[in-house]
Order: sequence, then structure tokens, then C-alpha cells
Amino acid sequence: MSTTEGRIVPQSDLESLIATRRTSKPATFEGPEPDRSLIRNCIEVARKAPNHHRTEPAYFYLLNRRQIQELAELNAARVADSPSPKANLEKAERKLKEWGQTPGLLIVTCHTDPGSTLARSKPALFEEDYAAVCCMTQNLLLLLHNLGIATKWSTAPIWKHSDFARIIGLKHGEPSERVVALLFYGWSQDFPKTRQFRPLDEILIDGDDSR
Ligand SMILES: Cc1cc2nc3c(=O)[nH]c(=O)nc-3n(C[C@H](O)[C@H](O)[C@H](O)COP(=O)(O)O)c2cc1C
Repeated sequence: MSTTEGRIVPQSDLESLIATRRTSKPATFEGPEPDRSLIRNCIEVARKAPNHHRTEPAYFYLLNRRQIQELAELNAARVADSPSPKANLEKAERKLKEWGQTPGLLIVTCHTDPGSTLARSKPALFEEDYAAVCCMTQNLLLLLHNLGIATKWSTAPIWKHSDFARIIGLKHGEPSERVVALLFYGWSQDFPKTRQFRPLDEILIDGDDSR
């Protein structure tokens, strides 16, 4: 087997999956809601990410239409309610439509109990749990991308609103449960172009001095 040949799936397929994933604008999502069983299956696989102490800190909230609409309205009110509301009314209208019409919305959170013995003895746990949930989220994006389901990972601070926890039925809530991602998803025919990255040698510090 050559060094570039994958043992599980062809290496070039995996590379292509990772390299072609792009954030899509929810405005480009169309068609019906992707089957929820597809999303469930992706979550089941995606959560098998590295996780120090095996704490399984992630929670996934797969919203229904009523929850999506309520969040869309909450977010629009947040956007409109700024020091210069006039300038933001248009944006609020746009966001209301974008959020309200998304075929799917999955919220990913990270729960670390600050009172647990582990958290008290290992302060790094909070960051490590968050890192693990980010890995799971990227797994999820890749699995969805492979099915042709476009995504946008958003961190719009909608969870700051006091109604947020009630709407999604947050299990633990602040401050021990943090929102990691609002994942908008849907079928899309829009394929954003690849973006430019810095040359690898600017970020790879290769200690091999034989090169
Ligand atoms: C932690 C995190 C938070 C993000 N939050 C937002 C967001 O709030 N709004 C948004 O438009 N995109 C958000 N993005 C998507 C990035 O803007 C996007 O990944 C970036 O522009 C690179 O594009 P690509 O995903 O197509 O490579 C977020 C991405 C990450 C990883």
C-alpha cells in the first residue's frame, strides 16, 4: 500500500471531503427539511471524537418548526434592539426570514459541571470539554457535507436572552452549559468557492533540519 492510500476510506476521498466543506448561507437552502433520521445518524457518529476523561460533554438540540420560529423572532428582536435601531431594522427583517425559513437548526452545547470532583481537580476540563465538542461539531459538518447537506455554524449570542433556555429546553443551562454552535442546515445547490489559506510553511514549524 502506498503512503497516500487510506486504510479505511481512500485518503483522497477524505481529503476532498475536508477541503470542499464550506460554510453556506442559509438563504441558499431550499427544498424540504432533510430527514431527521439522517441527522440523528450523523450525530451518533460525530460524537465519537477525542474526549479527554471521556466526559461526553455534548448535548444536541434538534429543533422543531415552532422552536425555530420562536428563536428566529427572539433573534430578530435582539438585532433590532441596538443603539441605532433604525439601521438594524432591515437586518432584523432579513434575519427573521433567514432563521425562520431554515429547513433545519441543530444547537450543540457543552456541559461541564463546575461542582464535579473532576472539574474541581482539573481546571483545564472546561477548555478540554469545549475542544471535544468542537471536534464533534466538525465531524458533524463533514458527515452532513458528504450527504450534500449544507451548513452554517453560527455563534450569534441568542442564548443570552432569558427565553432561550425555555424555547430549546436546555437541560442544564448557564453557566455550566455553553452553546458551542447553532447549526443551520439544509439542501443547497449553492457551492461556495474554496477560500485562500496562508502558505503551509508560515504555520508549520517543522523541526526536521534535513530539509
Ligand atoms: C466557532 C465558530 C463560530 C462561527 N460563528 C459564525 C457566525 O456567528 N456567523 C457566521 O456567519 N459564520 C460563523 N462561522 C463560520 C465562519 O465564518 C466560517 O467558517 C469562515 O468564514 C470560513 O469559511 P468556511 O467555513 O467556508 O471555510 C463560525 C465558525 C466557527 C468555527
